[in-house]
Amino acid sequence: MINYGDVVTFMTIAIICVNKDPMPWYEALKAVDPTLNVQIWKDDDPPSDAEFALCWNHPAGVLQNFPKLKCICSMGAGIDHFLADSLLPKGVPLVRIVDPALAHSMFEYLHAAVMRFVQNFDHYMREQSQSFWCQRRASTKAATTVGLMGLGHLGEYAARRFFDDGFKVLGWSRSEKSLDGVETFCGAQSLDDFLSQTDILICLLPLTPETENILDLATFRKLPIGASVINVARGAHLVDADLITALDEGHLNGACLDVFREEPLPSTHRFWGHSRILVTPHCSSLSDPFSVTPQVVQNYRIMQSNGQLLNQVDPMRGY
Ligand code: NAP
Ligand code: GLV
Repeated sequence: MINYGDVVTFMTIAIICVNKDPMPWYEALKAVDPTLNVQIWKDDDPPSDAEFALCWNHPAGVLQNFPKLKCICSMGAGIDHFLADSLLPKGVPLVRIVDPALAHSMFEYLHAAVMRFVQNFDHYMREQSQSFWCQRRASTKAATTVGLMGLGHLGEYAARRFFDDGFKVLGWSRSEKSLDGVETFCGAQSLDDFLSQTDILICLLPLTPETENILDLATFRKLPIGASVINVARGAHLVDADLITALDEGHLNGACLDVFREEPLPSTHRFWGHSRILVTPHCSSLSDPFSVTPQVVQNYRIMQSNGQLLNQVDPMRGY
């Protein structure tokens, strides 16, 4: 509640999410501040006075029903779901989640996915299904080069942790970076050089017009033969048919995919039954409502006082 002289105004946070339970978010917001006015959106709701929207995969156009919005906040790190909505209210600032716990859980997933390739577990799972006994010498961390596409909040943390764990680490970003122990590459002109030295490619890019379809056959063929790919960014980074081709022609060893063009991944999709692909259900790093709502409420307060929002994204840049 804000008291402007004799005018008392209740400001509202609207939770708008699809395929995600809003209740943990509601409870986490109330745990930060029990006096907050929080509304959970339902698709037959009339227009709302909420000034702050906390969203995940909101239905396109729905934010038009919030004419007083002063801030739109993603429940996660990505904001591509906002930019895909051509009816997104113009000029309303967009903010996203930047959370050390999100970076940590992403690294834990990536480390497990990388070690699965290093220890040949992907081969053993296939061979087990045929009762086939075949010893393989595991690779070593020092002999394995992990290449991270994206050195932002999540990519930089993962790069540092892989280096600390003994891997050779390369990173590719849009702007120049300097990271101890990590060989960095920037811009389109250095992509081929980066790819040619990468054994396990990890995509941690935001989805933008420049990065859409970046994981295509041309990219895969620039990796060394036997390389593996992990996509934890967005499904539209990957050209699905090209991945199958690169695996089936033997250029790629395997893939671990956490994100898909359509989610849930349709039961008829070829990825489910491909012996060289591990599918996980967009779970590599889930925002924990209790970890991230303090920053959501902080931004809500900043919005109320017309201050400089935290973790604001640039819609022109796309991330
Ligand atoms: P971020 O901090 O915005 O970092 C993005 C990185 O990508 C930056 O290093 C940026 O380069 C680089 N980049 C952007 N466009 C590029 C281009 N055209 N060429 C080369 N590099 C480019 O993002 P983040 O917080 O690390 O998150 C990354 C993505 O992970 C999110 O957008 C989301 O899609 C995904 N994600 C997935 C999950 C999951 O559960 N699967 C969870 C969280 C996030 P500069 O540093 O030079 O700007
Ligand atoms: C999850 O995909 C996120 O963007 O946080």
